[in-house]
Amino acid sequence: MAVLEILKYPDPRLKEIAAEVTEFDASLCAFIHDLEETMRAGPGGVGIAAPQVGHLQRIVIVDVSSKPKVKQHGRLLLINPEILEWEGMVKGREGCMSVPDYTGNVIRARTIKLQAQDEQGEVQEYEMEGFEARAVQHEIDHLDGLLFLDRLVSRRNDLFQRKVYK
Ligand code: NI
Repeated sequence: MAVLEILKYPDPRLKEIAAEVTEFDASLCAFIHDLEETMRAGPGGVGIAAPQVGHLQRIVIVDVSSKPKVKQHGRLLLINPEILEWEGMVKGREGCMSVPDYTGNVIRARTIKLQAQDEQGEVQEYEMEGFEARAVQHEIDHLDGLLFLDRLVSRRNDLFQRKVYK
């Protein structure tokens, strides 16, 4: 197990499109363990995507259980995730371990339905809403080389400098 280095904006590797996972083997499991440890070691780590550690595969982990009032699934491992349905649009504040000095307002779907594979390659379906749905949409964006900075409602009014990352 290891805590991996998080790439920071404007590292060009954060702009790349990640490849589909095709091998569900021991090295995938080992990487997922390291990715999760890296997420939990980070400040405010409610989600992480493999490209954030320079690993260009379609793997996301989200766990918003530190926000107990939020409706959620607990720890979610999403491999090759695909959003199938979107509903509603909500503006909300986002941060990112790859953009440690800023937060920003982004519009996301309020509820989503998605499918993703698990460690065994089995396809699972999820429906989610609110903060968890936002976190998943944010992390899936990383798989396509997108940061919240690319989706700011207004660069002038919706980007905020952080004082302390917590
Ligand atoms: Ni992020």
